[in-house]
Amino acid sequence: MSLDHRQQQYLDAMGISCWEARPGFFSEQKNVSLEPLLVESRPSERLEEQAIIDKTAVAADAFRDPHREASEQQTDKAKWEMLVKKVSHCQQCHLSQTRINTVFGVGDQRANCMVIGEAPGADEDKQGQPFVGRAGKLLDEMLFAVGFKREQVFIANILKCRPPGNRDPRPEEVAECNTYLLQQIKLIQPKVILSVGRISTQNLLNSKEKIGRLRGQVHYFGALNIPLVATYHPAYLLRSPSEKRKSWQDLLRVLAILNN
Ligand code: URA
Repeated sequence: MSLDHRQQQYLDAMGISCWEARPGFFSEQKNVSLEPLLVESRPSERLEEQAIIDKTAVAADAFRDPHREASEQQTDKAKWEMLVKKVSHCQQCHLSQTRINTVFGVGDQRANCMVIGEAPGADEDKQGQPFVGRAGKLLDEMLFAVGFKREQVFIANILKCRPPGNRDPRPEEVAECNTYLLQQIKLIQPKVILSVGRISTQNLLNSKEKIGRLRGQVHYFGALNIPLVATYHPAYLLRSPSEKRKSWQDLLRVLAILNN
């Protein structure tokens, strides 16, 4: 079994280099559709990756919970639609006066993995979609490298409207918008949250720690105790490609949680 061409391209884009597998390796492995083992790792990391790979079938559908399928009917579509409408008309803070579009979020409403970023930038404001600029492209590549298409996760932000000039969100803006994000999380019920960047992670965890300290472990979010993995924001990774290896480890942590 080998990486498909696109996955290989995405690993390359993430700056992850690969080793050749020894002959016969893949015939000994079960349920491996992506081989992070091929990633050039330090020995201790290799052990960790191997443990994950041994247990993981890297495809979003492999993580689907049959009970969740059965409860699909219970998903309150009306609540979701009301929320979409509410956000699109929101005037709760002054960002409504400068935005072009609200950015509700995109993806699978029943996703097992929810990705949460900071706030829309200029491209997202124009298109009404999260993560569509350069950082978004890298995010897509990161997700694809571990087997997720964009539409198989749900991608949202702490803020639904663009702060002018891409400044950091202000506490009062976060407080107003928080109710929407919480309702999204409650309705989606993800099995894991991937928080990208300092702003989203600090807000979700109510912490002032640096992202470098918040990543590298599993946190638990809110009353639902949803496992939360923090990683670097793709915009930061574009500026600091040498940190991509750590984000790769974070993504493997997400897979390990889903696998459990
Ligand atoms: N950065 C974010 O955090 N979110 C977006 O949607 C785009 C860029």
